[in-house]
This record gives sequence, C-alpha cells and structure tokens, in this order.
Amino acid sequence: MRRRTSPRRTATSKPQSIGPIQTFEVDGLTHEAKGVARFQGKVTFIEGALPGETVEAQVNKAGRNFDEAVLVNIIEPSVYRVEPSCQQFNVCGGCSFQHLADEQQLNAKADWLQGQLRNLITTQELEQLSDKPMGYRRRARIAIELKKGRMALGFRGKASKEIISIDQCVVLAPNLQSIFLSLKLALLENDLAGVLGHVELLEDTKGVSVLFRLTSSISDELKNAWEDWAEKEQVALYWQAPKAGKAEVAPEKMRYYDLVDLRLKYHPQDFIQVNATMNQKMVAQAMSWLSPSKQDVVLDLFCGVGNFSLPLAQHAQSVIGVEVQETMVEAARENARVNGLDNLSFVAADLTKPVNNELFKQTITKVLLDPPRAGAFEFLDSIIKIGPTQILYVSCNASTLARDAEYLVAKGYRVLRVSLMDMFPQTSHVETMMLLQKKK
Ligand SMILES: C[S@@+](CC[C@H](N)C(=O)[O-])C[C@H]1O[C@@H](n2cnc3c(N)ncnc32)[C@H](O)[C@@H]1O
Repeated sequence: MRRRTSPRRTATSKPQSIGPIQTFEVDGLTHEAKGVARFQGKVTFIEGALPGETVEAQVNKAGRNFDEAVLVNIIEPSVYRVEPSCQQFNVCGGCSFQHLADEQQLNAKADWLQGQLRNLITTQELEQLSDKPMGYRRRARIAIELKKGRMALGFRGKASKEIISIDQCVVLAPNLQSIFLSLKLALLENDLAGVLGHVELLEDTKGVSVLFRLTSSISDELKNAWEDWAEKEQVALYWQAPKAGKAEVAPEKMRYYDLVDLRLKYHPQDFIQVNATMNQKMVAQAMSWLSPSKQDVVLDLFCGVGNFSLPLAQHAQSVIGVEVQETMVEAARENARVNGLDNLSFVAADLTKPVNNELFKQTITKVLLDPPRAGAFEFLDSIIKIGPTQILYVSCNASTLARDAEYLVAKGYRVLRVSLMDMFPQTSHVETMMLLQKKK
C-alpha cells in the first residue's frame, strides 16, 4: 500500500501561466488523468488534480469550449491521493496515475470504459481482472539522447518530447530495473550512447535481454566490450544494425516465454503481451469465456506467435491463426509443432485487405480477435459472413472496440460479457475483453 499524501501539497510542475491563480472544485477525471472542474460554467482540465479536491490552478490554454490549467496548490486533497512512487512522475510521460490509489485507478478506468461502451453495456455488466500494480512490465523501449555531452536515458516527457532521464522505473519487472541501472552506468563509461537509436529491455522465461538499435556501425572492440558486460550481467545481447528493420537473430538465440504448459518462441522484437502475469490471466479468461470444445473450429485473428491460438488448440477441434508478419507466422507454426499440437494452421495475411483463403471456407464456429489500436473494422464484414456463434474481442483501444462492437451488434450479435483487464497499472492504457454471441 502506498502512502497517502498530506494536505496542501504543492505540485512540482512549474506553471507557465496566462491567467490569475483561481480556486477550482474538481469533480471528474479524464482518461488521461486530468482533473475536470467547472469555472464560471466552462470546463477546465487540470493535469494532476483529482476528483473531490479543491485546488488552485492557473489557466494556461484558453479554448472556445474548454480551458486547460496548471495545478499550483492543493487546498483540500482527495482521500485517494497517494505519494507517487517515482520521483519523476510529474515530468515523465510513462505513467499518468501514480498519484491515485491503485483501487481508485481501476474505478476511474471502469467509469471511463463504461462511458466508451455506453451504447453496448449497462453499469452492472463490467467485470474486472487485475494483478500487481507495480513491477509488471516485461519489456520496455528506452529512449536515449546525448545533449552537450550529457546523457539522458529514459522515456519521453509528459508535456514535451524531451527525454526524461531516470535511474529507476517502478513499473518495470525487478530484473529489468536492476539491469537498467547497470546499463546506464556502463553507457556513461564508453562511446556507445552516441550511436544508439534506442535500447529495448526484455525479460521472459529464457532470462533478461538487451537490444541496441544502432544508428551507425561500431568497432569490433566496442562490441566486444559490451559482449563482456552482457556476460558479466548474464543477459543476452542483440544488435539491430543501422537501417535494418529488425535485429538478426540466430535460431538458438530466439526468445521464448512459458504460458502454463506451453512454450512460445519469438524474435526479441516480435509482439508479446507486456504484462506476463496478466497475460496468463487473460488467456485463462479467454479460454473460460469462449470454452472451445472438440466441436469448435476457431479462427484466431491477429494471432502473433500463437499466444491464444495454442491454448485454444488444446481444447478445440482445430484453430486457424492469421497474422500479417510472415516471420511471426513461421514462429507460430514452429510453436505448434514443438508443443506437439497438430490441429493448427496459420495464414500470413493483412486483415485490412480482402483475404481470400481456402482455410476460411470450412465451418468456423468461433472467432477470437486481438487487433492493434486501429481495431478490425475492415475485416468485420468477413467475420459476419463467416457467421461464428461467438466472437471474443480483445482490445487495447476502447474507442475502436466500441465502433467495431456496435457494428457487430447492428449485424446480429449481442454483448454477453465485458471485462476491464488492468494490463498497464499506473498508465492510462486500458485493455478490454468482450464476448459477443450471435442472436438466434
Ligand atoms: C495486439 S497484438 C496481438 C498478438 C497476439 N494475439 C498476442 O496475444 O500475443 C496484434 C497483432 O496483430 C498483428 N497485426 C497488425 N496489423 C495487422 C494486420 N493488418 N493484419 C494482420 N495482423 C496484423 C501484429 O503483428 C500483432 O502480432
């Protein structure tokens, strides 16, 4: 449990005022963690303010429909205000909600999600799935910048594109936090920082790895020094050459993560779910909601390396996975083979374009889809034509989920269950699972 903060806490962000200091009563919270207040009838968004608070703020952006204000002083804090665990919270753009107690973050996200899905669900219907609030990220892309000989290693800022230099990040998995510190010290000691685009940290069942994206080539001597560092730290090292789309990775250096009794292999730059324990819970929930049986042929759209396809295939008659990246499709096929599953087939296809594949001609009973933020609108008519009895939609963007689900409902489906999955605590991101059933 994090410490509640004392009253009259002053915000650390420096006001760049255009208006006078005014007192606001905050009664709402946006998805991006801005407090919502009304001043003389006009909505004002105040970054860092929480519902129930009385604050002093200065309007720094005046618009026709709403103003934005900078928090100056908290006169009466919310009972749910807590001390952020990270000292850089006010400036780093990585997290938005560290000043709000964990259980209230979930409530705020639930309110927001209900608003997004207002045409689809009623208040009682939103279920919740959560896990530990800190130390959950198993992968992170770290930005790097050298300015006037000073190195900044961290994430982009809240208010600017500037890189905020950090020494620790509380949402990273503990092993990634410790490698981050060692990496920072090592980068300060040699010449690599000047030729790095970014650094990728990753932890999976195989261990910890660090990937350097190079912007120009480096000497063998420098590379060897880093290989020595990696050996000392017991991490795997990957190099993405300048202008290369991905790092070249030898088969024995491919990564893997375990999912209950399955082992899934992947390239260190392939998509995998960021939160390992929430992923386990999410996949288990998907299996429980969709309950595939030997009568089911399941289509897994946007399947990646088979995160849902393989668990589905353990219960279904067969599974067809579709994914745009050929290399991930190959990894998914290999994952099926290595895990002894012979009832899966995978298709490489771009689901924003018409897909003409023989595999879709068989009777598909259930569809699972887990698209990127843009959603899956272009493929919805194909799903409707396939006519599965159930559709399980996993979404990282509630507004495209709402758009797509409203379309499916208009075309003969109804929403059975919805769950808010807290995959990214402390941040404003929301993951949702929705089960739709074909109307009789
Ligand atoms: C949110 S990830 C989900 C992956 C997988 N279901 C998992 O749980 O690991 C979305 C996946 O869709 C793939 N993808 C993105 N755009 C696509 C498209 N237009 N057609 C097919 N797949 C696409 C990505 O490569 C990525 O693997």
